[in-house]
Amino acid sequence: MFTVNNEMDYSTDHEGLIIGLFDKQEKFSGSLKKLDERFEGQLTELVKAGDVSAKFKNISKVHSFGKIAAKRIWFVGLGKEKDFNFEKLSEALGKVFKTVKASKLQETAILLDTFITESVNGLEAAHAISESFALATYHFKGYKQKSNEPEKKIENITVYSESLDKEDIQASLTVGLAFGNGTNSARTLVNIPGNLLTAKDMADYAQQLAGKYDFEVEILDKEEIEKLGMGAFLAVNQGSTEPPKMIVLKYQGKEQWEDVIGLVGKGITFDTGGYSIKTKAGIVGMKTDMGGAAAVLGAMEIIGELKPEQNVVAVIPSTDNMISGNAFKPDDVITSMSGKTIEVLNTDAEGRLVLADAVTYAKHHGAEYLVDVATLTGGVITALGVHTTGAMTNHETLYEQVLEASMEAGEPMWQLPLFEKDKERVRNSKVADLNNSPGSEGHAIVAGAFIGEFAEGTPWVHLDIAGTATTSKEHDLGPAGATGVMSRTLALFVERFEPIKK
Ligand code: BES
Ligand code: MN
Ligand code: ZN
Repeated sequence: MFTVNNEMDYSTDHEGLIIGLFDKQEKFSGSLKKLDERFEGQLTELVKAGDVSAKFKNISKVHSFGKIAAKRIWFVGLGKEKDFNFEKLSEALGKVFKTVKASKLQETAILLDTFITESVNGLEAAHAISESFALATYHFKGYKQKSNEPEKKIENITVYSESLDKEDIQASLTVGLAFGNGTNSARTLVNIPGNLLTAKDMADYAQQLAGKYDFEVEILDKEEIEKLGMGAFLAVNQGSTEPPKMIVLKYQGKEQWEDVIGLVGKGITFDTGGYSIKTKAGIVGMKTDMGGAAAVLGAMEIIGELKPEQNVVAVIPSTDNMISGNAFKPDDVITSMSGKTIEVLNTDAEGRLVLADAVTYAKHHGAEYLVDVATLTGGVITALGVHTTGAMTNHETLYEQVLEASMEAGEPMWQLPLFEKDKERVRNSKVADLNNSPGSEGHAIVAGAFIGEFAEGTPWVHLDIAGTATTSKEHDLGPAGATGVMSRTLALFVERFEPIKK
């Protein structure tokens, strides 16, 4: 896929050549100077005249008319150098790779050194190239008899750099590609409809992943889930003809099974709301209610590729939330694996129920730090919109590490509070220890508070991705549909994780 070359003399045939251009980059230097000389200074003239634009994300195509071996040059505007960062680079690259793909070309070259600045070094730029390429050209095949996707795909990208070591670039390209591919796998899982991705299908997928990366795997079936007393998880599954699966993957990158990070992902394959049924409009799209599970599986794929020196247990409770004569109902009282009893006030608040038992089970597997990811509440969309993931925590230091990873991954999050008064609201029931839906104020917060009751003293971060797991619009780094959000953040968080002294 990626070939690295340290010498650029413009004499190798390529379909195209991608070059980054900063604002006010008046004089071409280095390898670009050589290029301009081949064009007898005409490229400089084009930039001066504004025919080639350095405005952020502007793309200008220039034919080479045989002056160099590559047939065409795509200049991609990078804006002001002082405002540049990894996220901007990724967007600009995404846009230019989309352009190349739309041109139905199968091959191109790119000048890595033209993207390096004080804020983005060469290795980061290499990472951005492969990651953005994977993300931007992602396509969900779908089920049309006749696909409208061009059959020609970009098969090879030659990365030129005169400033960096070949092996180092190759290594960064491999890492970037792993991040892109893991995210794309998460996207695909979310895009598959509920009839084609049941709890069993999700378990099979996890099993395959485990085979590929040598993870330890445990898939609990209904009987085992009953034996363990996961009454909250079982209640959600009660109305379904599809048996539930509790999916566990273990990655051990340290000698000892210590400092274990638990990644817990909501795996509701379809959410009807149950007897607290969703509206006709609200129910459409609920195949995406396993976005948290997909993020965790995407992260595990990246972890499997990169093999960091960390220990991770991934726990995914998977079922659909259906209606039938057997289904659970409002007013039911159920007993979770932790022993805590729960008064069900709303069967559509099912995510926190399955997560309650999953969090407890992650701790049973030795998780000492917990991050759960879930398409949990419409309320988080009201609070933060669709670009920002909602975060809650019982441990600021752990949260800082997650936040840092999210900023680096370009997946923004914002913390919502969990005050004592919020916790009191989920503890308020006349008949049980907890209730699963204390009313419509602060939905996102009380959902988080509920899960926190099961994390108890274990450092824990909760990520509500109801707004960010999907997007209605195509963007520079992918199509409309699933975003695969949090796969990259979780993987980066794991990679960089520093155990917290107790
Ligand atoms: N899966 C939904 C949340 C959701 C909403 C995800 C929109 C993606 C887009 C969740 O299970 C749910 O139904 N939440 C309810 C909670 C309420 C009943 C307490 C909600 O947010 O309305
Ligand atoms: Mn629901
Ligand atoms: Zn749900």
